[in-house]
Amino acid sequence: MQTEILGNVQSVNNQHNVLVIKTIEAEARVWVYSPTIIRVSVSRQKGRDTSFAVIQNPAPQIAYTESREEIVLNTGSLKLRINKSPLRFNFYTANDEALSEDDQRFGVNWQGEWVINYRKLYPDEKFIGLGEKTGNLDRRGSSYVNWNSDVPNHTPESDPLYQTFPFFIGLHGGLTYGLFFDNTHKSYFDFGATTDEQMSWFGADGGDMNYYFFGAQGVAKIIEDYTWLTGRMEMPPLWSLGYQQCRWSYMSAAEVLDIAETFRREKIPADVLYCDIDYMDEYKIFTWNKETFADPKAFIDKLKAMGFHLVTIVDPGIKVEPGYKEYDEGIAENYFAVYPNGEKYVASVWPGRCHFPDFFREDVREWWGKAFTALTGPGVDGFWNDMNEPAAWGHNIPWLVKFGDYYMPEVRNAYGMQMAKATYEGTKKILNNLRPFVLTRAAYSGTQRYSAVWTGDNSAYDAHMLLGQRLVNSLGISGMAFTGVDIGGFSLDPTPELMVRWNSLGVYTPIFRNHAMQGTRYREPWCWGKENEAIIKKDIEFRYRLLPYIYSGYYQAQQTGLPLSRTLAIDYTNDEDVFDEKYQNQFLFGDAMLVAPVESTRFTEDVYLPEGEWYRLSTGEKFEGGKAIRADAPLTDLPVFIKAGAIIPMQNVIQNTREKGDGVLELNVWYGDTANTFTYYEDDGISYNYQKGVYYKRKVHFDPAKKTIRLTEVEGSFASKYTQVKLVLHGFGHNIKTAKVNGMSIAPSANTTVFNNDIKIIDIGF
Ligand code: GLC
Repeated sequence: MQTEILGNVQSVNNQHNVLVIKTIEAEARVWVYSPTIIRVSVSRQKGRDTSFAVIQNPAPQIAYTESREEIVLNTGSLKLRINKSPLRFNFYTANDEALSEDDQRFGVNWQGEWVINYRKLYPDEKFIGLGEKTGNLDRRGSSYVNWNSDVPNHTPESDPLYQTFPFFIGLHGGLTYGLFFDNTHKSYFDFGATTDEQMSWFGADGGDMNYYFFGAQGVAKIIEDYTWLTGRMEMPPLWSLGYQQCRWSYMSAAEVLDIAETFRREKIPADVLYCDIDYMDEYKIFTWNKETFADPKAFIDKLKAMGFHLVTIVDPGIKVEPGYKEYDEGIAENYFAVYPNGEKYVASVWPGRCHFPDFFREDVREWWGKAFTALTGPGVDGFWNDMNEPAAWGHNIPWLVKFGDYYMPEVRNAYGMQMAKATYEGTKKILNNLRPFVLTRAAYSGTQRYSAVWTGDNSAYDAHMLLGQRLVNSLGISGMAFTGVDIGGFSLDPTPELMVRWNSLGVYTPIFRNHAMQGTRYREPWCWGKENEAIIKKDIEFRYRLLPYIYSGYYQAQQTGLPLSRTLAIDYTNDEDVFDEKYQNQFLFGDAMLVAPVESTRFTEDVYLPEGEWYRLSTGEKFEGGKAIRADAPLTDLPVFIKAGAIIPMQNVIQNTREKGDGVLELNVWYGDTANTFTYYEDDGISYNYQKGVYYKRKVHFDPAKKTIRLTEVEGSFASKYTQVKLVLHGFGHNIKTAKVNGMSIAPSANTTVFNNDIKIIDIGF
């Protein structure tokens, strides 16, 4: 096998603001995307340069200086020093602190088609990110493969799983950087696992050494830059943030309706029910079983009348069966993946022998998108994309299979993303200004623009619950804010304790969805005895109380890319303790809540509270941070702590998000020594009108020095569904002293005060 390591630079040119550098082995191109983002692509042959992930264009100018030894690009925030003999890429801060450097011996190189970049490993360097990856929060000492796979029964050690996010953040010496290797081939990352602490390396089976380097300081800023480059989620439908109940499968419309009625009878809030594969006629996508789901419209109308939304599953495999509409159309128009001789590729999935839509073609995506009328017609508005690794019963598929102009190994990792894109774009058109909910199992960087993801077929044991939280936290670093796991565990039967515990963690999971495998015990909240049902119900009720906070959190994700579930490594990057295996599953849910997942067999837990002051949500007890505490953790009370100074809007308990509630927005403020601002956001929760200014946004400032809380004027033209604001103070130790509305004093009350929400400015003195 031929090995080629980048040698000396032979020429340097500025071609239309692309810096083009040639060596004997290859051509490197460098683009500046923003002061903190530089792209480097090194290739041996000039081929296609497409990206499924990136939605931005490079900046129109590139400025650099050149000497005999090096070329220096300085954006003011980030410096790339390109060594000429041999060609190596080294990134620094504007103050010349090393962020990331090529290994000077091996840099970028090829072995056959494999393309690899070896980089220097700093003694204290940590790595976070890479999306849906098992293992520790700090990925130092681990190696990973990206190859989207159908992995039922995966364990907390399995790799790869279903999704590919070749983006990581490096941390050393108090500095931060990010690197996105935009290559959809099977790819590899090794964070010093196998190199005697000398190097980290990443590479792929083919394609170019094409990466984006992020030099912003601060993990949150890097996430912001990465999601600027690859896109952010839109506002999700509010209903998808309520409780979701799923099962493989509710076998008939009658059974789904019975589940819906039980939720309402038991007064357990819920918004979403699912139909897994058995709603179809012989697993044929876009069909309904004529006996068990005989009248889908009447069925869904009944669900709607009870305030439920229905999500149905769609798999990519189209059954080979002449006479079946999607099969016939796909054959007639050549919409399916083929071998190079034009024969259609066949593999077996649920329906038996199937063809697979070529989602890499726009015409195929359009066709797929339009087919959803079979589901939207009767009233479905959530679309669950499964088996899109693509799965052929857990196996690879032949390397010769073609998708668009690509062979399978080149784009396998993006297939699920292209299916999600087709689903999202199609259903968005059909639903005509209403937001579809799309959930996908396989994904690639950028999928956040189209869909939420869940982490696939997990299992009902404690280590899997903790893994699920790490996956969600890691996905959050990788641009995916809208994520979930099968609460309760997909395979195996949870113990009642695990079910209760996992449900309580679900309250703080971006998607709160209970799902279970065929043949397992039913998982619905009432299946665990009255006592457990009461706990589960109370927790779900609290999720609904928190929705104003959660929705504002999604607004933040939509604006900045910051996820809802945040590893502590985002806000407390330089605190070694947050990487401790004992505490690494902890996370902030939104700006203000610290959640500590606890196994179902433990009833006290060591919780690490980072610097600052924290209040236990359930008791109001105050703790000094910067140390671990021993927290009570009965099944009724997952350890959740509120950051001092936090502002959390809540509402009263409602049974589903369509209910209006009592019209009172409860603004909770916890006393702290530092000032804080919370951006409250609301819109109609279902349409895209928010993009035209139809939203309601106001800032809440808490200022302990001035002893004031101020609600600023409202932005946007949406009329809030809350007619009153109830201010609730926690830990202040004294009452409200002064109250002014629009500058006019009114009589203050104790530590709970209600104001009309149409008031422009509210000032509270305490
Ligand atoms: C896959 C999915 C799972 C689903 C099942 C049947 O295993 O991951 O969620 O229930 O297929 O459709």
